[in-house]
Amino acid sequence: MLQSELIKLRDSMSLQEKIDQMLQLNGQFYEENNEDVLTGPAGSMGFTEQDIEMAGSILGAKGAERLIAIQKAYMEKQPHHIPMLFMLDVIHGLETVFPAPLGLGATFEPELAGKCASAAAKEAAVSGLHVTFSPMVDLVRDARWGRVMESTGEDPYLNGLFAAEQVKGFQGEDMSEPYKICACIKHFAAYGAPNAGRDYNTVELSEHTLRDFYLKSYKAGIDAGAGMVMTSFNTVNGVPASTNKWLMRDILRGEMGFDGVLISDYAAILETIPHGHSASPSDAAVKALEAGVDIDMMTSVYSANLLKLVEEGVVPEALIDEAVLRILELKNKLGLFENPYKDGDPEKEKEIILCEEHRALARETAAKSLVLLENDGILPLDTTKKVAFIGPYTSEKHIISSWAIAGNVPACVTIEEAAGEVLCAEKTSYHKGCTILGSGNQIISFTGIMKETTPEEEELRWMEEACEAAKEADIVVMPLGEHYAQSGEASSRAMIDVPEVQMRLFRRIKEVNENIVVLLFHGRPLDLRELKQEARAVLACWIPGTEGGHAIMDVLTGKVNPSGKLPMSFPYCVGQVPVFYNEYQTGRPFTDENLKFLSRYMDIPNKPLYPFGYGLSYTSFEISPVKVSSETMKADETLTVSAIIKNTGGCSGTEVVQLYIQDQTASVVRPVKELKGLQKVTLQPGEEKEVSFAVTESMLQFTRADGTVGSEPGIFSVWIGNSSETENKAEFDLKK
Ligand code: BGC
Repeated sequence: MLQSELIKLRDSMSLQEKIDQMLQLNGQFYEENNEDVLTGPAGSMGFTEQDIEMAGSILGAKGAERLIAIQKAYMEKQPHHIPMLFMLDVIHGLETVFPAPLGLGATFEPELAGKCASAAAKEAAVSGLHVTFSPMVDLVRDARWGRVMESTGEDPYLNGLFAAEQVKGFQGEDMSEPYKICACIKHFAAYGAPNAGRDYNTVELSEHTLRDFYLKSYKAGIDAGAGMVMTSFNTVNGVPASTNKWLMRDILRGEMGFDGVLISDYAAILETIPHGHSASPSDAAVKALEAGVDIDMMTSVYSANLLKLVEEGVVPEALIDEAVLRILELKNKLGLFENPYKDGDPEKEKEIILCEEHRALARETAAKSLVLLENDGILPLDTTKKVAFIGPYTSEKHIISSWAIAGNVPACVTIEEAAGEVLCAEKTSYHKGCTILGSGNQIISFTGIMKETTPEEEELRWMEEACEAAKEADIVVMPLGEHYAQSGEASSRAMIDVPEVQMRLFRRIKEVNENIVVLLFHGRPLDLRELKQEARAVLACWIPGTEGGHAIMDVLTGKVNPSGKLPMSFPYCVGQVPVFYNEYQTGRPFTDENLKFLSRYMDIPNKPLYPFGYGLSYTSFEISPVKVSSETMKADETLTVSAIIKNTGGCSGTEVVQLYIQDQTASVVRPVKELKGLQKVTLQPGEEKEVSFAVTESMLQFTRADGTVGSEPGIFSVWIGNSSETENKAEFDLKK
């Protein structure tokens, strides 16, 4: 439809009809027998029958047949036959589940995450969906926050690359094309910085930190063309994001140029009342509308108040017109006016969902996401040896996150299944050893309270049986880790460790067998001090997804040489959190163990246990001293920074070569290092390659105290290395 036709359509709609477009309800309301919903939550939440019949979009429903039926019924009733939008959280895949986003970050390969997004879009599109609430691009620094699992990590540059590639993967060049869906950048803004890592908590950030760290990845996603943005639950410097005019009007729409649909997070507009910012739902509606929020997710704040507010002249209808036009534009961009069902097709669902191609991509990506944290040479596994797999993740099918809401758990490949395909059955045994949480413990998941009901005696028996097996084995591989419901939304943890029962199992096994390889399942960085010390190898597997078992066995057996790198620092212990590599310089840097009055802890090191960008390989690499093409650089010049990387080990491998820069002196203190470039290089044994990066003035800019953005002349340090702790440094002088 032409823009002029959209405007004509909008202008022919009644005010009520327009307001309906601004409401999003969840799929529950559209079950065939929805009487319970209508008489239950709907009533108490203030939804009318009109709202339920006419809401412009729904979330949380899927399945081609169902969505086609809902669309058909809706359009028949909708006065202008405007189609409805179907949205769902397709976070790391629909039924084929790719690694959780933090694992995607660990691939340091944004294009690969783009391919995963494209495959996820294909599965979502054939099941009738139009929009995914993804990617989440929030920058994260606090491992206690459960949602770090949904982010690609702590670095603005890396997050920006991932944001852009994922948006392109979901949307393609044109989201009306087959198998493309609209992406939604979330959660705007700075949701990843809740105080003390507690979900939904206050966010207080200086403006330059907000701009130089937190806002970058949203901007990257918007520049890549994201059709939607979602607000966040938190306040930003005192004002809830969902009613924050400065954030939404001035920054998002004004500075970043976002002209797509802005949706609130789930009930976030209404929550500005308990925040103490809005006095009533009506007040919240005014504030959110003035801030430019187009769709209210799952409350009646807009639907119950906007009509009256316009009639009474409190808000101009023009604000509603503006929002409705954006919603119609999105429907048009998706091609829904021509084909309201888009790609929804029950036959295609059978063909595409969980197809071989998607599973192969999930396997490749999961293998590339694994980060080898420790290895004294025990890996790759000597497959002629007797191996005992001991731990609760040995045969665990649920290796997808709590956000993989449409993920197919039975289709997941366990470690036992994958090991059975490649290891000699006579020499391999599998033992649970204990439960994930420990007998009697419970956890609140999305679906309610889950209690570990295995009797304690049973668990003890498993442990003893596992010990017997460990005695017989040459090598013990221990798949351990967090429960999937220990990370994700509303899953903050103050103690970021492997559940105690599993550590008990580990210690028992260690008493009888020294040769332990730990495979870690986790949605966040964990306190790994003991495992680092006591295991012979530790492999971070994140939440690996459908093909997790295969991917892990590929790496254990050496079929794939690990190349993953940490996208988030792993703290020494929880007391160090938040710990991140790109911190600002202090006036008393920690340079001497024997001095007291420095910026340091008395009882733990300053450095994380494992830094950002770190990860081992089965081979070794040497990086030559970094070279700069000139000792000086003018603002309009490009400097080349290079080094030679050589594979000095015995097998082919891939290294992530990382470029870091620091402005040594500036009007605002600068981070000690900032990632500014990366290249993945694959080399055969003995092979070497020159890696070079172009440094331009725009890479040296930052936000000054007065809010202006620019670079400042002076000396810069530049490093090329294979982790954020590299000391391979040179300098150059930026001239005016
Ligand atoms: C989450 C969002 C999600 C939305 C819809 C909220 O609780 O914060 O990330 O997209 O629900 O499911």
